[in-house]
Amino acid sequence: MHALIVVAHPEPTSLSHGIAARIAEGLSLTDPGNSYEIADLAAEGFDPRFSAADLAVHRTQASPPADVAAEQARIDGADALVLVFPVYWWSMPSLLKGWIDRVFSNGWAFDFSLDGGLEKKLRHLKVHLIGVGGADARTYTRHDYFGAMKTQIDHGIFDYCGARVVTSELLLDSETQDPALHLDTARSIGRNLFKTSQSCEAA
Ligand SMILES: Cc1cc2nc3c(=O)[nH]c(=O)nc-3n(C[C@H](O)[C@H](O)[C@H](O)COP(=O)(O)O)c2cc1C
Repeated sequence: MHALIVVAHPEPTSLSHGIAARIAEGLSLTDPGNSYEIADLAAEGFDPRFSAADLAVHRTQASPPADVAAEQARIDGADALVLVFPVYWWSMPSLLKGWIDRVFSNGWAFDFSLDGGLEKKLRHLKVHLIGVGGADARTYTRHDYFGAMKTQIDHGIFDYCGARVVTSELLLDSETQDPALHLDTARSIGRNLFKTSQSCEAA
């Protein structure tokens, strides 16, 4: 089984990068046959700006630009898509949001037409979301940021395309908590990555 682990953080020494590495370690330890690729969007220089060329794709007037097609091919080659991101303003950072805007395009992630309605095209895709937030759980609960983020990201993006969100975790208190706790959680997410997907399939 192959995982594409996408990390959207400018600093290789960040907790987000540490978490991505531990998820990779966990899934490799479970089964040496498992493989992964870490897509470091910042280091790779992915351009998150939604351009006129992307709009032409949305309007089914053009094929995706080469950088978008390359990202779609990476996802097509994976059994699981793992997104690791710091929470910025109660959502994902703009680098990752731009990646979604551009890569999850009309014609690839879904087909939408006024007469035909919506066809969800990513029903085969299993998604694992790991957000890293600085605030505490009380703050998330008080304002229902947990619910708001699930509605917007899990449902609004992935369910719209038919993809199944298997893991949706927010690792909080990231600036005050001992990082070892979150890194341990990440390793166990990695260990269970394909187990969880398989048990969901059987259910
Ligand atoms: C621009 C910006 C916005 C942020 N917004 C939030 C937020 O809305 N909620 C939250 O819990 N933490 C927020 N934080 C804190 C980050 O989530 C925290 O610094 C990060 O998870 C630390 O992990 P890292 O080492 O991977 O950056 C924000 C940080 C920055 C820089």
